[in-house]
Amino acid sequence: MRADVVIVGGGPAGLLLSQLLHLKGVETIVLERKSRDYVLGRIRAGVLEQGMVDLLRKAQVSARMDREGLVHAGFDVAYGGKLHHIDLEGLTGGKSVMVYGQTEVTQDLYDARDAMGGKVVHEAENVALHELTGDKPYVTYEKDGETHRIDCDFVAGCDGFHGVSRKSIPVDVLKEYELVYPFGWMGLLADVPPISDELIYANHERGFALCSMRSMTRSRYYVQCTLAEHVEEWPDDRFWEELAKRLPEQVLPNLTTGPSIEKSIAPLRSFIAEPMRYGRLFLAGDAAHIVPPTGAKGLNLAASDIYYLSHALIDFYKKNDEAGLEAYSERALSRVWKAERFSWTMTKLLHTFPEDGEFGAKMQRAELDYLFSSRAAMTSLAESYVGLPY
Ligand code: FAD
Ligand code: DHB
Repeated sequence: MRADVVIVGGGPAGLLLSQLLHLKGVETIVLERKSRDYVLGRIRAGVLEQGMVDLLRKAQVSARMDREGLVHAGFDVAYGGKLHHIDLEGLTGGKSVMVYGQTEVTQDLYDARDAMGGKVVHEAENVALHELTGDKPYVTYEKDGETHRIDCDFVAGCDGFHGVSRKSIPVDVLKEYELVYPFGWMGLLADVPPISDELIYANHERGFALCSMRSMTRSRYYVQCTLAEHVEEWPDDRFWEELAKRLPEQVLPNLTTGPSIEKSIAPLRSFIAEPMRYGRLFLAGDAAHIVPPTGAKGLNLAASDIYYLSHALIDFYKKNDEAGLEAYSERALSRVWKAERFSWTMTKLLHTFPEDGEFGAKMQRAELDYLFSSRAAMTSLAESYVGLPY
């Protein structure tokens, strides 16, 4: 078998790259380790920056998002028993974000790939990358007990944090930076109306909480939990009670509870691998970097990587121009580090860090008081929240 580009990983990054390249006549094969149902069953991000919305439109996968997505012009931060508003639109000259779930983005991408006859191999096992530093790389995988080989020009490593692509780069080439936080997020999805029209990020001495949504009838809530906790110890009633304790009283009459349809714990981590290129292999999305979810940057960073990488590959095939490929790693990392900074700042601002002691708690309170007394500070936060330019 042959393809111009082999894409390892059929998550949002891999599928979006495949779709954008296909529209310009560049042939791809996507290799995904799991089944399609498994990929679509993972509940993850929910907030899209304007840049990602524009890219999905360019990829011709935006019809349902434009119909069903919710435009959010601001959000609230709860602390000290009150709500404080961040007016995204007013602070950024009219910019906003779109609330539309990662599951829906992925579904729309799969539908588009199917409609265009895109090649996606599911349950591809033991994917291995070969000859990455030569000009004839190839990829092998196993499916139904048989080994297959695909010859290609380039490999896109879009296989997430636990994938094989980053691990195919020699340790003396790759430099990894990592910060693991001493807590996680317990998430709950339920078919109940959201507590508010806008998202609420809550700082509380019992721990962080987030009120988000997927639609006006489906809510997504998170509470900060310890790393020792298990979902089984958190029946729905306990989750709802804990969430209510962390929110200001004024919003509680609007809290509608109901049975969960999904509950899971995600650990929080900041991670970056440099460079994002090794020979003919290009890393994108979670394969190269992880942000803590506070501020919703993970999925959006995968999209900005794909913006740079798709342009670079299209320039190579259509104009014989390698400049974009040469610049890819540096260009992507420059934006990645700024989003890492923002996600780290938001995480530090809103979570309880018991090991930082009373001084740390006072500093955090001063940060919040300063933020809401300074239009300059709010503008800086809003600018990163809606997404830095590509
Ligand atoms: P992924 O979505 O991880 O896709 C990678 C794909 O590669 C997967 O389908 C995987 O099965 C496949 N794969 C892995 N290894 C191989 C292999 N060896 N061979 C073939 N295929 C392989 N972000 C937010 O902004 N907000 C959130 O609330 C949020 N919650 C999250 C919760 C969890 C539990 C996790 C893990 C992430 C969360 N994120 C969140 C981050 C966001 O979901 C990711 O940034 C986004 O999924 C990145 O997309 P991706 O395509 O790069 O990686
Ligand atoms: C969601 C997740 C986030 O990390 C965030 O900052 C906002 C919303 C969500 O899953 O809806």
